[in-house]
Amino acid sequence: MMWSGRFSQPTAELVLRYGESVSYDWKLYKHDIAGSIAHARAQLKAGMLTEEEFAAIESGLRGIEADIDAGKFTWSEKLEDVHMNIESELTRRIGAPGAKLHTARSRNDQVATDTHLYCRAQIDTTMELVHDLQRALVMKAAEYAELRIPGYTHLQRAQPVTVGHHLLAYVEMLARDADRLTDCRRRLNICPLGSGAIAGSTINLDRAGIAAELGFDGVTENSMDAIADRDYVMECLFCLALIGTHLSRLSEDLVLWSSAEFGFATLSDAHTTGSSLMPQKKNPDVCELTRGKSGRLYGNLVSVMVAVKGLPLTYNRDLQEDKEPLFDSFETVSLALRVNAEMLAAMKMNEQRCADAVSDPLLLATDLADYLVRRGVPFRKAHELVGKAVAVAVGSGTPLNKLTLEQFQEISPEYAEDVHSVFSLDRAMALRTNPGAPNPDNTARRLAYWQEKLK
Ligand code: ARG
Repeated sequence: MMWSGRFSQPTAELVLRYGESVSYDWKLYKHDIAGSIAHARAQLKAGMLTEEEFAAIESGLRGIEADIDAGKFTWSEKLEDVHMNIESELTRRIGAPGAKLHTARSRNDQVATDTHLYCRAQIDTTMELVHDLQRALVMKAAEYAELRIPGYTHLQRAQPVTVGHHLLAYVEMLARDADRLTDCRRRLNICPLGSGAIAGSTINLDRAGIAAELGFDGVTENSMDAIADRDYVMECLFCLALIGTHLSRLSEDLVLWSSAEFGFATLSDAHTTGSSLMPQKKNPDVCELTRGKSGRLYGNLVSVMVAVKGLPLTYNRDLQEDKEPLFDSFETVSLALRVNAEMLAAMKMNEQRCADAVSDPLLLATDLADYLVRRGVPFRKAHELVGKAVAVAVGSGTPLNKLTLEQFQEISPEYAEDVHSVFSLDRAMALRTNPGAPNPDNTARRLAYWQEKLK
């Protein structure tokens, strides 16, 4: 036991079980070892370790790392966490120099350093996966760039859009997600090591050198803040929760699109599941799981925020509760990004069903109002005149575009001979030339932008 000096009783069995974190924080081992080697090198430079002692520590730690990599390391719950497991095994292997390693270091600054490094590495992986999903979306968007579908508000048919435009909306969301992760990474990439348990150390190691070796951009400026701070954990969790929101909304679109009622899209057999009872079923489980897992991602964020909010400075053991949510969110989002990219790549759109749905002339009711506006009718008036036309159409069971010129003119003489030209979808899409609208040129330009950017 590391603190046996002061204690006359061993830790109770239940306390060990209650307090151990090694069953999950072993995942920090590479960062823990990198941190320890940098720390030992600083001790060497400060003349506190001989070359031989440093070499023994470094190769001892590398040996332990190799064993963990190979699954040959035995973790002990009695040693509580990843830090004490590795340190005590090092001392077992190399003897005396191992016992010097923890000079001028506490587990408080050690765990903070490990967690910073973990977040940084995970952000880098997550960014790659965000880009992969963006690529899959861009490929699908390019494949169906001009395939028209109804766009929905209130889940009611609103105006025509294209599959390209719809899918590129998610590419924009994910770009903001990646941007947020980059920002979060920049802020967390500073080194807390050297903050000690709370108040630094009387043994002053070269903090800047340690930070540089570990790839940090600098060192933390307040030892108390550095020990107590979990902002970066919460920021990561928020970034991940928001990715979860975006994926959940995409999932919901795909659940709808792949239903018989919409019929716009077919997901591959490999990315759907059957029913144990109903032979006809093909269920969008990946979408549903993604939608469901967003709840977990929010829960992880909230659980850490609540755990931290009432803590007096600085370290309190409550902070150990940050790790499972943090690991879970990174792991959940990584898998979600990967499986969604794969599923999207294999998704097929049903062009006929899309064409049937978008041929609904009511989708162009707003375009009809714009037509009247171009003829000098104030928009509010135009809205009313089109509303009347819609009422006649719906009331007589006639499609809006099949009302005769006479019927239109009975409502208002502002409807002219060319009124039926409004109902050309080609024309309707071509007219929307402003940036951001689903015009074919805009879509092509944005596709080219993303293809270049994500190369
Ligand atoms: N396992 C601990 C954690 O994750 C490491 C720090 C322990 N520090 C302490 N003073 N008990 O927070």
